[in-house]
Amino acid sequence: MDSIVVTGNGALSGAIPIAGAKNTCLKLMCAALLGDEPLTLTNVPNLSDVKTLTSLLESLGCEVASLQNGHAMVLSASEVTNRVAHYDIVRKLRASFNVLGPLIGRCGEAVVSLPGGCAIGARKVDLHLDALRAMGADITLEEGYVHASAPRGLKGAEIAFPFVSVGATENTMCAAVLAKGTTVLKNAAREPDTVALADCLRAMGADIEGAGTDEVVIRGVDRLHGTTHRVIADRIELGTYMIAPAIAGGSVELIGGERRLVGALADKLEEAGIEVADSVRGLTVRRGNAPVKSVDVTTAPFPGFPTDLQAQMMALMCTAEGTSVLEETIFENRFMHAPELIRMGAEIDVHGGHATVTGVDQLKGAPVMATDLRASVSLILAGLAAEGETVVSRVYHLDRGYERLEDKLRSVGALVERVRAE
Ligand code: UD1
Repeated sequence: MDSIVVTGNGALSGAIPIAGAKNTCLKLMCAALLGDEPLTLTNVPNLSDVKTLTSLLESLGCEVASLQNGHAMVLSASEVTNRVAHYDIVRKLRASFNVLGPLIGRCGEAVVSLPGGCAIGARKVDLHLDALRAMGADITLEEGYVHASAPRGLKGAEIAFPFVSVGATENTMCAAVLAKGTTVLKNAAREPDTVALADCLRAMGADIEGAGTDEVVIRGVDRLHGTTHRVIADRIELGTYMIAPAIAGGSVELIGGERRLVGALADKLEEAGIEVADSVRGLTVRRGNAPVKSVDVTTAPFPGFPTDLQAQMMALMCTAEGTSVLEETIFENRFMHAPELIRMGAEIDVHGGHATVTGVDQLKGAPVMATDLRASVSLILAGLAAEGETVVSRVYHLDRGYERLEDKLRSVGALVERVRAE
């Protein structure tokens, strides 16, 4: 298996282009199943998760043509020939559970594997299923698969989610666009990914109001048509590379970055003494000579601090002056990076959903192991600030979510090498 070797090399300087958003792109790809005309996506990130979902969509009868070296794609679901999403793929990529809403909405039936747990938590799907039941779907669970059917179509319903779920909001929104009548989603997710999905569905002819607020109204239409849609910038990749100069020092411009995508992180970085400024091409993040100050962070649904940036922020806090408390409220097991950071000399005490981090003067390079996508990148960030060599193994996690990570970091002066397995 490949590994990545990072050698602390001081301040960073230069610019990093931000790719299209993985999480947005995956949901848009699922939505292509709703229309019988082609959906063209541009600014697609070239990532293994996109390829995994491509194979699932192809297995359902959707034709997928990749263009521009994987940075654009045309998805044509003129016919959906198969309604079964197999465990082999869904377990690898949880976002593929989001074919459920489009399949039942368009075809009146779907058989989708339950995703199972994953490294960061149980990640249940009960909210998705309850919402579809409220819309008249008959749902049974058999041998690890969700069997959903609504032979006469789904009916609009009022659905109040007990807590915010990005996946359930998006799955239900997709199911509702072709339903009979009006669906109202209360306590809906407000993530930029969810807004982008609504924008794309509207461009395909859907009638959706209120995306980006906690109440979304979807009036069912008879059919959707094709469109071309540009995937928004990846706020998690953006946030990750904003933390790079914060931890290593220096100044980096994030091309295509927008503060509205990462407001909670930008606020916390500023509180820690890092400068975040709009630039002509995006955002510039600069760390001056003063030490980074400790700040407390609690993850929350958007516009709160994203769970997908908690690990990276923890790496930064390991080098800050003082003690900070990081609270994880979205996933119950999302501190797997802590023991690895401790191997690099960090002082972290995990107790339930909290991690108390006391900054140390100097992290030290060590062999460490990636446990999930965002945990892996936190170890790379820590390596940028560490003395000596950090070797991160199991980097296939990184390839799921970061396109050309080594190239991008090298272009701003970091010493990062991929060592290919024999
Ligand atoms: C979550 C994040 C999203 C992130 C993604 C990938 C939030 C609110 N969501 O989205 O920002 O990009 O992970 O890391 O920050 N849950 C249930 N039952 C359900 C659905 C969810 O109990 O039916 C629970 C989950 O286990 C989790 C919480 O609700 O604890 C939020 O889940 P959800 O937003 O659905 O997760 P993702 O869509 O994966």
